[in-house]
Amino acid sequence: MVESVPHGGKLVNRIDTHFSKENIQHSVELDKLELSDLELIANGAYSPLEGFMGKEDYDSVVQNMRLTNGLPCSIPITLAVDSMKANQLKIGETIYLMYDGTIYGVMTVEEKFQPDKKLEAEKVYRTTDPHHPGVKKLFNRPEVYLSGPITLTKRPEKNKFESYYLDPKQTRGKFEELGWETVVGFQTRNPVHRAHEYIQKSALEIVDGLFLNPLVGETKADDIPSEIRMKSYQVLLENYYPQDRVFLSVFPAAMRYAGPREAIFHAIVRKNYGCTHFIVGRDHAGVGNYYGTYDAQKIFSHFTEDDLGIKPLFFEHSFYCKKCENMASAKTCPHDRGYHVILSGTAVREMLRNGVHPPKEFSRPEVVDILIQGMKEMDINEKSRIGQLP
Ligand code: ADX
Repeated sequence: MVESVPHGGKLVNRIDTHFSKENIQHSVELDKLELSDLELIANGAYSPLEGFMGKEDYDSVVQNMRLTNGLPCSIPITLAVDSMKANQLKIGETIYLMYDGTIYGVMTVEEKFQPDKKLEAEKVYRTTDPHHPGVKKLFNRPEVYLSGPITLTKRPEKNKFESYYLDPKQTRGKFEELGWETVVGFQTRNPVHRAHEYIQKSALEIVDGLFLNPLVGETKADDIPSEIRMKSYQVLLENYYPQDRVFLSVFPAAMRYAGPREAIFHAIVRKNYGCTHFIVGRDHAGVGNYYGTYDAQKIFSHFTEDDLGIKPLFFEHSFYCKKCENMASAKTCPHDRGYHVILSGTAVREMLRNGVHPPKEFSRPEVVDILIQGMKEMDINEKSRIGQLP
């Protein structure tokens, strides 16, 4: 039996696709991030949240990384509207939550409040630099937050990897079926390269199963699209992992690039999916040079393991060492940097885009083939979209 208890004690379920939608006057248009948050509140991934945060919880999360009930929570989950829309809405009324003209849910409005976005940026992102993708998004949101309990009335569309969309209740059932007592969660927004594989397999030496849980919601434009990544995960698992010790399903959240704060958030969410352990490597959920390499590990010292209910497994920056002829890290390799195969994400994406294979010590050839092919097709589609192809 998996020992992991959902955050706050029970898995939230606020999905009701038969909800009767009568006498509802107003609606609010969500953005992509809010739509994914709506679904993840409803399916229990964000337990104990039952809706978008009210002012007290919001302030407490921004300032102290805790909900008002004391539970750790590091990222505010909020719904933003402009003042004109906010003025139309009455406290206590139920509104539609829509995306692109379709109703996905309802919310009973409990509060309307104005966030201090500068403070939110400073605390959550550790920067107010508008070039930071998370901060930019925050500053571009409308100025009023609405809070209240939600119900998801329609599931958002999945991409073609539909069978990999599992709710926390289902992944918990799966882990039980597999007989795993300990499960390590792995968050990624990238293809799985050798360094990722190395830390996953190091963790697999001490737990029963690996839950590969790639984030497939909104990411910044230069991250590799999830549809290409999904194919690369499949081919990697088929060729290099013991089939009965790894389980792949997606995390349909948006990336916030909040580094340390997002690492805590990612860990708590994976607890809700049923994990007992969670991998945090170098610069987890980071972007550019906004965070120190191990800041996302250091932040865990603010919480006890009982507090979080999931055990973080920390890994040093890993690489292939030509002298060791092995994957390694500074903890295990005595050789100097010249022997280490290290490529930046930007450099790798550039290589893939140009059809250049990164070395096999960096990435499995089967994975690279899928990525190059995927990027090529993306390029053809893009060129045909903007009319550059004959
Ligand atoms: S993230 O934004 O989802 O964190 P990425 O997919 O690159 O980005 O990372 C997934 C996980 O692997 C994170 O925990 C990250 O810290 C870790 N990681 C990525 N590259 C390395 C590396 N070379 N060495 C150690 N850990 C790494």
